[in-house]
Amino acid sequence: MIKTLLEQTSFSYDDIVTLLSIDNQEDLDLLMKKALSIKKQYLGSKVHYRGLIEFSNVCEKDCYYCGIRKSKEDVERFMMDEDMVLESAIWAYKQGYGSITLQSGERQDSYFIDYVERVLNKIQDACNHELGITLCLGEQTPDVYQRWFDAGATRYLLRIETTEDELYRQLHPQDGHHELSIRQACLKSLRAIGYQVGTGVMIGLPGQSIESLAKEVLFFKDYDIDMIGMGPYLVSAGTPLVDQMDVASFDSLKGKMIRFELGLKMIAVCRLVLKDVNIAATTALQAIHALGREKGIDAGANILMPIITHENHRAQYLLYDQKPCVDDTAEQCKQCLNRRVESVEQEVGYFEKGDSRHYHNRMK
Ligand code: 5AD
Repeated sequence: MIKTLLEQTSFSYDDIVTLLSIDNQEDLDLLMKKALSIKKQYLGSKVHYRGLIEFSNVCEKDCYYCGIRKSKEDVERFMMDEDMVLESAIWAYKQGYGSITLQSGERQDSYFIDYVERVLNKIQDACNHELGITLCLGEQTPDVYQRWFDAGATRYLLRIETTEDELYRQLHPQDGHHELSIRQACLKSLRAIGYQVGTGVMIGLPGQSIESLAKEVLFFKDYDIDMIGMGPYLVSAGTPLVDQMDVASFDSLKGKMIRFELGLKMIAVCRLVLKDVNIAATTALQAIHALGREKGIDAGANILMPIITHENHRAQYLLYDQKPCVDDTAEQCKQCLNRRVESVEQEVGYFEKGDSRHYHNRMK
Protein backbone atom coordinates (compact mmCIF):
# COMPACT_ATOMS: atom_id res chain seq x y z
CA MET A 1 0.00 0.00 0.00
CA ILE A 2 2.81 2.42 0.85
CA LYS A 3 4.41 1.58 -2.49
CA THR A 4 1.47 2.89 -4.50
CA LEU A 5 1.16 5.91 -2.25
CA LEU A 6 4.82 6.75 -2.83
CA GLU A 7 4.30 6.75 -6.59
CA GLN A 8 1.89 9.68 -6.36
CA THR A 9 3.06 13.14 -7.35
CA SER A 10 0.64 15.05 -5.14
CA PHE A 11 -0.42 14.22 -1.61
CA SER A 12 -3.55 14.90 0.40
CA TYR A 13 -3.73 15.55 4.13
CA ASP A 14 -4.70 11.90 4.66
CA ASP A 15 -1.74 10.70 2.58
CA ILE A 16 0.62 12.82 4.64
CA VAL A 17 -0.80 11.48 7.89
CA THR A 18 -0.35 7.93 6.55
CA LEU A 19 3.28 8.59 5.62
CA LEU A 20 4.11 10.24 8.94
CA SER A 21 2.50 7.31 10.75
CA ILE A 22 4.73 4.66 9.17
CA ASP A 23 6.00 2.50 12.00
CA ASN A 24 7.77 -0.45 10.38
CA GLN A 25 11.31 -0.49 9.04
CA GLU A 26 10.43 -1.81 5.60
CA ASP A 27 8.02 1.03 4.80
CA LEU A 28 10.31 3.54 6.43
CA ASP A 29 13.14 2.45 4.12
CA LEU A 30 10.84 2.79 1.11
CA LEU A 31 9.85 6.30 2.18
CA MET A 32 13.47 7.40 2.64
CA LYS A 33 14.52 5.86 -0.65
CA LYS A 34 11.77 7.60 -2.54
CA ALA A 35 12.46 10.96 -0.91
CA LEU A 36 16.16 10.66 -1.75
CA SER A 37 15.35 9.85 -5.37
CA ILE A 38 13.07 12.90 -5.62
CA LYS A 39 15.84 15.03 -4.11
CA LYS A 40 18.28 13.75 -6.73
CA GLN A 41 15.77 14.17 -9.54
CA TYR A 42 15.07 17.82 -8.68
CA LEU A 43 18.36 18.97 -7.17
CA GLY A 44 21.05 16.50 -8.22
CA SER A 45 23.45 14.79 -5.87
CA LYS A 46 25.02 17.82 -4.23
CA VAL A 47 24.71 19.13 -0.71
CA HIS A 48 25.34 22.83 0.00
CA TYR A 49 26.91 24.35 3.09
CA ARG A 50 25.73 27.37 5.07
CA GLY A 51 28.42 28.45 7.49
CA LEU A 52 26.51 29.21 10.68
CA ILE A 53 27.58 32.22 12.76
CA GLU A 54 25.68 32.47 16.05
CA PHE A 55 26.75 36.00 16.86
CA SER A 56 24.72 36.78 19.98
CA ASN A 57 22.57 35.00 22.54
CA VAL A 58 20.95 38.16 23.87
CA CYS A 59 17.21 37.67 23.39
CA GLU A 60 14.06 39.64 24.11
CA LYS A 61 11.78 36.68 23.64
CA ASP A 62 10.82 34.27 26.37
CA CYS A 63 9.83 31.08 24.51
CA TYR A 64 9.18 28.31 27.02
CA TYR A 65 11.32 25.73 25.19
CA CYS A 66 14.46 27.73 24.47
CA GLY A 67 17.80 27.64 26.28
CA ILE A 68 18.56 31.33 25.59
CA ARG A 69 15.14 32.75 26.55
CA LYS A 70 15.21 36.16 28.17
CA SER A 71 14.34 35.00 31.69
CA LYS A 72 16.95 32.26 31.85
CA GLU A 73 19.39 33.72 34.31
CA ASP A 74 22.24 31.24 34.19
CA VAL A 75 23.11 32.12 30.59
CA GLU A 76 26.28 34.10 30.06
CA ARG A 77 25.16 36.62 27.44
CA PHE A 78 27.45 37.72 24.62
CA MET A 79 27.46 39.74 21.45
CA MET A 80 30.39 39.39 19.07
CA ASP A 81 32.09 42.48 17.83
CA GLU A 82 31.57 43.17 14.16
CA ASP A 83 35.09 42.19 13.18
CA MET A 84 34.70 38.73 14.68
CA VAL A 85 31.58 38.12 12.57
CA LEU A 86 33.33 39.51 9.50
CA GLU A 87 36.37 37.30 10.08
CA SER A 88 34.22 34.15 10.24
CA ALA A 89 32.31 35.16 7.12
CA ILE A 90 35.54 35.72 5.19
CA TRP A 91 36.84 32.37 6.39
CA ALA A 92 33.70 30.66 5.03
CA TYR A 93 33.99 32.57 1.77
CA LYS A 94 37.60 31.48 1.31
CA GLN A 95 36.67 27.88 2.04
CA GLY A 96 34.17 28.07 -0.82
CA TYR A 97 31.11 27.64 1.39
CA GLY A 98 29.11 29.88 -0.96
CA SER A 99 26.70 30.89 1.81
CA ILE A 100 26.53 31.81 5.45
CA THR A 101 23.72 32.11 7.98
CA LEU A 102 23.70 34.81 10.63
CA GLN A 103 21.70 33.75 13.65
CA SER A 104 21.14 35.33 17.06
CA GLY A 105 18.60 35.88 19.77
CA GLU A 106 15.80 38.25 18.81
CA ARG A 107 16.11 42.00 19.33
CA GLN A 108 14.29 44.91 17.78
CA ASP A 109 16.27 47.87 19.11
CA SER A 110 17.94 50.30 16.74
CA TYR A 111 21.46 49.45 17.92
CA PHE A 112 20.92 45.84 16.87
CA ILE A 113 19.26 46.75 13.57
CA ASP A 114 22.13 49.08 12.64
CA TYR A 115 24.71 46.51 13.72
CA VAL A 116 23.23 43.85 11.42
CA GLU A 117 23.01 46.31 8.55
CA ARG A 118 26.66 47.32 8.95
CA VAL A 119 27.82 43.71 9.25
CA LEU A 120 25.94 42.78 6.08
CA ASN A 121 27.51 45.63 4.14
CA LYS A 122 30.98 44.79 5.41
CA ILE A 123 30.63 41.12 4.54
CA GLN A 124 29.31 41.79 1.05
CA ASP A 125 32.10 44.27 0.39
CA ALA A 126 34.76 41.91 1.65
CA CYS A 127 33.41 38.95 -0.33
CA ASN A 128 32.72 40.60 -3.68
CA HIS A 129 28.98 40.22 -3.18
CA GLU A 130 29.44 36.54 -3.97
CA LEU A 131 28.30 35.09 -0.68
CA GLY A 132 24.69 34.01 -0.13
CA ILE A 133 23.56 35.35 3.25
CA THR A 134 20.65 33.95 5.23
CA LEU A 135 19.35 35.79 8.26
CA CYS A 136 17.76 34.02 11.16
CA LEU A 137 16.96 36.99 13.42
CA GLY A 138 13.31 36.59 14.21
CA GLU A 139 10.37 38.94 13.92
CA GLN A 140 11.06 42.45 12.63
CA THR A 141 9.08 45.20 10.93
CA PRO A 142 8.84 45.21 7.12
CA ASP A 143 11.10 48.29 7.11
CA VAL A 144 13.85 46.43 8.91
CA TYR A 145 13.52 43.39 6.66
CA GLN A 146 13.82 45.76 3.70
CA ARG A 147 16.92 47.48 5.09
CA TRP A 148 18.68 44.16 5.66
CA PHE A 149 17.66 42.98 2.20
CA ASP A 150 19.10 46.16 0.68
CA ALA A 151 22.29 45.57 2.67
CA GLY A 152 22.79 42.19 1.01
CA ALA A 153 20.78 39.47 2.76
CA THR A 154 18.82 37.40 0.25
CA ARG A 155 17.33 34.66 2.41
CA TYR A 156 15.46 34.70 5.68
CA LEU A 157 14.62 31.79 7.90
CA LEU A 158 11.82 32.32 10.41
CA ARG A 159 10.50 29.15 11.91
CA ILE A 160 6.80 29.20 12.61
CA GLU A 161 7.45 26.53 15.31
CA THR A 162 3.82 25.35 15.11
CA THR A 163 0.74 26.72 13.36
CA GLU A 164 -1.58 25.16 15.90
CA ASP A 165 -3.02 28.01 17.98
CA GLU A 166 -3.42 26.07 21.16
CA LEU A 167 0.06 24.54 21.01
CA TYR A 168 1.61 27.91 20.11
CA ARG A 169 0.05 29.36 23.26
CA GLN A 170 1.40 26.50 25.35
CA LEU A 171 4.91 27.20 24.08
CA HIS A 172 4.94 30.97 24.41
CA PRO A 173 3.98 33.55 27.04
CA GLN A 174 0.75 35.45 26.45
CA ASP A 175 2.28 38.88 26.77
CA GLY A 176 1.52 40.37 23.37
CA HIS A 177 5.06 39.69 22.12
CA HIS A 178 4.62 36.07 21.08
CA GLU A 179 1.78 35.97 18.56
CA LEU A 180 1.38 33.33 15.87
CA SER A 181 -0.42 35.84 13.65
CA ILE A 182 2.58 38.20 13.75
CA ARG A 183 4.91 35.42 12.73
CA GLN A 184 2.67 34.58 9.79
CA ALA A 185 2.56 38.25 8.80
CA CYS A 186 6.37 38.37 8.97
CA LEU A 187 6.64 35.46 6.53
CA LYS A 188 4.35 37.28 4.14
CA SER A 189 6.29 40.52 4.35
CA LEU A 190 9.60 38.69 3.77
CA ARG A 191 8.15 37.18 0.66
CA ALA A 192 6.79 40.50 -0.60
CA ILE A 193 10.26 42.05 -0.23
CA GLY A 194 11.78 39.33 -2.37
CA TYR A 195 13.67 37.15 0.07
CA GLN A 196 14.00 33.42 -0.40
CA VAL A 197 11.78 32.55 2.53
CA GLY A 198 12.35 29.68 4.90
CA THR A 199 10.35 28.41 7.80
CA GLY A 200 10.08 25.27 9.88
CA VAL A 201 8.81 23.64 13.02
CA MET A 202 10.04 21.75 16.02
CA ILE A 203 9.13 18.10 15.82
CA GLY A 204 7.93 15.94 18.69
CA LEU A 205 6.91 18.76 21.00
CA PRO A 206 4.91 17.75 24.05
CA GLY A 207 1.26 17.82 22.97
CA GLN A 208 2.01 17.76 19.22
CA SER A 209 0.24 15.09 17.16
CA ILE A 210 1.02 13.49 13.81
CA GLU A 211 -2.08 15.21 12.46
CA SER A 212 -0.71 18.55 13.59
CA LEU A 213 2.60 17.88 11.79
CA ALA A 214 0.71 16.89 8.63
CA LYS A 215 -0.96 20.29 8.75
CA GLU A 216 2.47 21.95 9.04
CA VAL A 217 3.55 20.32 5.79
CA LEU A 218 0.44 21.70 4.12
CA PHE A 219 1.19 25.09 5.66
CA PHE A 220 4.64 25.06 3.99
CA LYS A 221 2.92 24.28 0.72
CA ASP A 222 0.23 26.86 1.20
CA TYR A 223 2.82 29.59 1.92
CA ASP A 224 4.83 28.38 -1.07
CA ILE A 225 8.00 28.54 1.01
CA ASP A 226 11.48 28.13 -0.48
CA MET A 227 13.47 26.62 2.36
CA ILE A 228 12.85 24.51 5.43
CA GLY A 229 14.84 24.30 8.63
CA MET A 230 13.31 21.98 11.17
CA GLY A 231 14.40 19.45 13.71
CA PRO A 232 13.36 17.43 16.71
CA TYR A 233 12.47 19.29 19.88
CA LEU A 234 15.20 18.77 22.46
CA VAL A 235 15.00 19.16 26.18
CA SER A 236 16.62 22.29 27.60
CA ALA A 237 16.90 22.00 31.38
CA GLY A 238 15.70 24.97 33.38
CA THR A 239 13.08 26.06 30.84
CA PRO A 240 9.37 26.20 31.74
CA LEU A 241 8.45 23.49 29.25
CA VAL A 242 10.85 21.05 30.86
CA ASP A 243 10.00 22.09 34.41
CA GLN A 244 6.40 21.05 33.86
CA MET A 245 7.04 17.65 32.25
CA ASP A 246 8.06 14.22 33.46
CA VAL A 247 11.51 14.43 31.87
CA ALA A 248 12.54 10.86 32.62
CA SER A 249 9.72 9.43 30.58
CA PHE A 250 9.59 12.14 27.89
CA ASP A 251 13.32 12.04 27.34
CA SER A 252 13.84 8.29 27.64
CA LEU A 253 15.91 6.68 24.91
CA LYS A 254 12.73 5.46 23.33
CA GLY A 255 11.14 8.91 23.50
CA LYS A 256 14.18 10.46 21.85
CA MET A 257 14.28 7.88 19.08
CA ILE A 258 10.61 8.44 18.29
CA ARG A 259 11.26 12.17 17.91
CA PHE A 260 14.35 11.48 15.84
CA GLU A 261 12.52 9.15 13.48
CA LEU A 262 9.67 11.63 13.19
CA GLY A 263 12.26 14.27 12.29
CA LEU A 264 13.51 12.10 9.42
CA LYS A 265 9.98 11.31 8.28
CA MET A 266 9.17 15.03 8.19
CA ILE A 267 12.21 15.68 5.96
CA ALA A 268 11.22 12.85 3.63
CA VAL A 269 7.57 13.88 3.45
CA CYS A 270 8.45 17.54 2.85
CA ARG A 271 10.70 16.42 0.01
CA LEU A 272 7.90 14.34 -1.52
CA VAL A 273 5.32 17.09 -1.19
CA LEU A 274 7.42 20.21 -1.89
CA LYS A 275 10.02 18.70 -4.24
CA ASP A 276 12.41 21.53 -5.19
CA VAL A 277 12.79 23.41 -1.88
CA ASN A 278 15.97 23.55 0.18
CA ILE A 279 15.76 21.39 3.29
CA ALA A 280 18.42 21.41 6.00
CA ALA A 281 19.65 18.40 7.92
CA THR A 282 19.93 20.33 11.18
CA THR A 283 22.34 19.96 14.08
CA ALA A 284 19.40 18.99 16.31
CA LEU A 285 19.22 15.62 14.52
CA GLN A 286 22.80 14.94 15.49
CA ALA A 287 22.07 15.85 19.10
CA ILE A 288 20.02 12.64 19.31
CA HIS A 289 21.86 10.32 16.96
CA ALA A 290 25.57 10.36 16.08
CA LEU A 291 24.69 9.84 12.42
CA GLY A 292 21.70 12.17 12.56
CA ARG A 293 22.77 14.54 9.82
CA GLU A 294 23.79 11.77 7.42
CA LYS A 295 20.41 10.21 7.93
CA GLY A 296 18.82 13.59 7.26
CA ILE A 297 20.59 13.75 3.89
CA ASP A 298 19.54 10.20 3.15
CA ALA A 299 15.96 11.28 3.91
CA GLY A 300 16.12 13.98 1.22
CA ALA A 301 17.74 17.02 2.87
CA ASN A 302 20.21 19.00 0.73
CA ILE A 303 21.62 21.62 3.10
CA LEU A 304 24.10 21.32 5.96
CA MET A 305 25.04 24.09 8.35
CA PRO A 306 28.60 23.71 9.56
CA ILE A 307 29.00 25.85 12.67
CA ILE A 308 31.64 28.53 12.16
CA THR A 309 30.85 30.48 15.33
CA HIS A 310 34.14 31.46 16.98
CA GLU A 311 35.32 28.86 19.54
CA ASN A 312 35.13 31.40 22.36
CA HIS A 313 31.35 31.66 22.04
CA ARG A 314 30.12 28.23 20.94
CA ALA A 315 29.37 26.93 24.39
CA GLN A 316 27.32 30.05 25.15
CA TYR A 317 24.87 29.50 22.31
CA LEU A 318 22.89 26.57 23.62
CA LEU A 319 19.26 26.44 22.51
CA TYR A 320 19.00 22.93 23.95
CA ASP A 321 21.07 20.47 25.98
CA GLN A 322 23.65 18.12 24.51
CA LYS A 323 24.34 20.29 21.50
CA PRO A 324 27.04 18.61 19.43
CA CYS A 325 30.12 20.36 17.97
CA VAL A 326 30.53 22.91 20.80
CA ASP A 327 34.16 21.91 21.34
CA ASP A 328 35.09 21.88 17.66
CA THR A 329 36.71 24.57 15.57
CA ALA A 330 35.29 25.73 12.25
CA GLU A 331 37.97 23.71 10.47
CA GLN A 332 37.06 20.57 12.40
CA CYS A 333 33.37 21.06 11.57
CA LYS A 334 34.29 21.33 7.92
CA GLN A 335 36.36 18.13 7.88
CA CYS A 336 33.73 16.29 9.86
CA LEU A 337 30.85 17.29 7.58
CA ASN A 338 32.91 16.58 4.46
CA ARG A 339 33.33 13.01 5.69
CA ARG A 340 29.65 12.76 6.48
CA VAL A 341 28.68 13.89 2.99
CA GLU A 342 31.12 11.46 1.41
CA SER A 343 29.74 8.62 3.50
CA VAL A 344 26.30 9.07 1.95
CA GLU A 345 27.77 9.26 -1.54
CA GLN A 346 26.93 12.84 -2.31
CA GLU A 347 29.23 15.76 -2.91
CA VAL A 348 29.58 19.26 -1.45
CA GLY A 349 28.71 22.10 -3.84
CA TYR A 350 31.74 24.23 -3.06
CA PHE A 351 31.92 27.77 -4.47
CA GLU A 352 28.19 27.72 -5.23
CA LYS A 353 25.48 29.68 -3.45
CA GLY A 354 23.04 26.82 -3.62
CA ASP A 355 20.00 29.09 -3.90
CA SER A 356 16.59 27.54 -3.46
CA ARG A 357 15.62 26.02 -6.81
CA HIS A 358 12.02 26.56 -5.80
CA TYR A 359 12.63 30.29 -5.49
CA HIS A 360 14.08 30.53 -8.98
CA ASN A 361 11.27 28.44 -10.41
CA ARG A 362 8.60 30.63 -8.87
CA MET A 363 10.34 33.82 -10.00
CA LYS A 364 10.34 32.69 -13.64
N1 5AD B 1 14.87 22.12 20.88
C1 5AD B 1 14.94 22.17 19.53
N2 5AD B 1 14.96 23.30 18.83
C2 5AD B 1 14.91 24.46 19.52
N3 5AD B 1 14.90 25.72 19.10
C3 5AD B 1 14.86 26.53 20.17
N4 5AD B 1 14.83 25.79 21.29
C4 5AD B 1 14.86 24.49 20.91
C5 5AD B 1 14.83 23.26 21.60
N5 5AD B 1 14.77 23.21 22.93
C6 5AD B 1 14.85 26.09 17.69
C7 5AD B 1 13.59 26.91 17.38
C8 5AD B 1 14.16 28.21 16.85
C9 5AD B 1 15.52 27.80 16.37
C10 5AD B 1 16.50 28.91 16.21
O1 5AD B 1 15.94 26.88 17.32
O2 5AD B 1 12.84 26.26 16.38
O3 5AD B 1 13.38 28.78 15.82
